[in-house]
Amino acid sequence: MKKKFALIGHRVPSHGKLNLNDLAGSCGRLDVILRSVNTALYLSHGIRDDVEIVLHFMGGEKKPRRVWIEGSNVKGLHADERSIAGQISKILQTPLPPIGMKYEFQKGIFHGQGALEDTLSEWKNEGVVPMHLDINGNIISEELKKYENIGFVISDDQPFNDDEMSLLSDVKKISIGKKWIQGHSVIAILHHYMD
Ligand SMILES: C[S@@+](CC[C@H](N)C(=O)[O-])C[C@H]1O[C@@H](n2cnc3c(N)ncnc32)[C@H](O)[C@@H]1O
Repeated sequence: MKKKFALIGHRVPSHGKLNLNDLAGSCGRLDVILRSVNTALYLSHGIRDDVEIVLHFMGGEKKPRRVWIEGSNVKGLHADERSIAGQISKILQTPLPPIGMKYEFQKGIFHGQGALEDTLSEWKNEGVVPMHLDINGNIISEELKKYENIGFVISDDQPFNDDEMSLLSDVKKISIGKKWIQGHSVIAILHHYMD
């Protein structure tokens, strides 16, 4: 079973140098996204090689950027959030690849243009079944295990915006429970069901 996680950083800048001492304030709550990366990717000792993460950096004036982290290939990424932020900062200081191109920045970490619309269309072509995480969805169960390729779309500290909600209108909604919890906790619970 392959698991993909699309994480939306609404205010995380798509370009520029990050202030690693203020990931929560000056980087558009990148701290929230990095906690989710950590939970999605890392086991106690090792990396989940059946996971791929797509980060969506939508903030700032310039075009949005996506960053892919492939659990099966990634090298040189450490589990602490500041160190991941350092690598993201280097990517954000690199020119955006041309439309349709995905450049490998370091082993197993790629970046390119695009937004949620592109991720959903790529998933469709790859046979990935998308799931929209929302408190109003169907309560999840071990049924999740029946999918060969599954993709979860999770927002940051903000709700999905109107455009994103319209892209997700045909996507199956699943819920962890009736209270909004933080994205990384959602991911831990999803892993629990799929493990
Ligand atoms: C901190 S929550 C965002 C809360 C925000 N106030 C909202 O209205 O969307 C981050 C993301 O985690 C997921 N999430 C949080 N709680 C959830 C739940 N109980 N069931 C399903 N997904 C949840 C959703 O994708 C949500 O956008």
